[in-house]
Amino acid sequence: MLDSHTGRAANYRQWVNVGTTLLPKGEVNIIDGQPIAASEYINTYVEPQSFAIYMETGAWRDGTQIVKEFTATKDTAPDEVLVESHYTGLAMLIKDTERFPAETGHLGYFYIGHHRQPYEPKASLLPREQCSSCHEALAADQQFIFADHHIGLQRKSKE
Ligand code: HEC
Repeated sequence: MLDSHTGRAANYRQWVNVGTTLLPKGEVNIIDGQPIAASEYINTYVEPQSFAIYMETGAWRDGTQIVKEFTATKDTAPDEVLVESHYTGLAMLIKDTERFPAETGHLGYFYIGHHRQPYEPKASLLPREQCSSCHEALAADQQFIFADHHIGLQRKSKE
């Protein structure tokens, strides 16, 4: 559900976590173009109904919502377990065939903060050049969503 006041998903941490990627310390976070001080995990959550339909049919339905939430990690020695310390940012995409053009796969991209909570009170729509351009360049063959990066979206492993 999108909250009509904030324009962002409520309860997304209860959605399906389809996988986690690691952004190593010093890399630039594409959400705001800033290098990160400590390694960040990126947890990707898909709204459950859209997830179920995708796994069944291989198509992302109109209304699909996917969020990426970042977590900072404790600065540890290389041989220590990398432990998450706090949430540090949130971004979202929404598929809306009426709002967003076919060239973007009908996807709109939103920024909700890249810092400790609380995040921004409202999700803000980001320009096509900032977000969609890369998804258009690299993921046009998979409906502009990087399903092949997420272990939980591997449909073939079910067969
Ligand atoms: C340089 C290329 C690039 C840019 C620019 C980019 N993304 Fe992505 N995005 C990716 C890749 C690669 C993934 C795959 C998963 C991962 O690496 O975490 C991804 C994944 C995502 C996902 C999860 C769904 C999916 O497709 O896997 C969301 C949501 C998302 N990006 C939002 C954004 C937003 C919002 C912006 C703009 C601030 C943005 N992206 C800009 C490359 C990019």
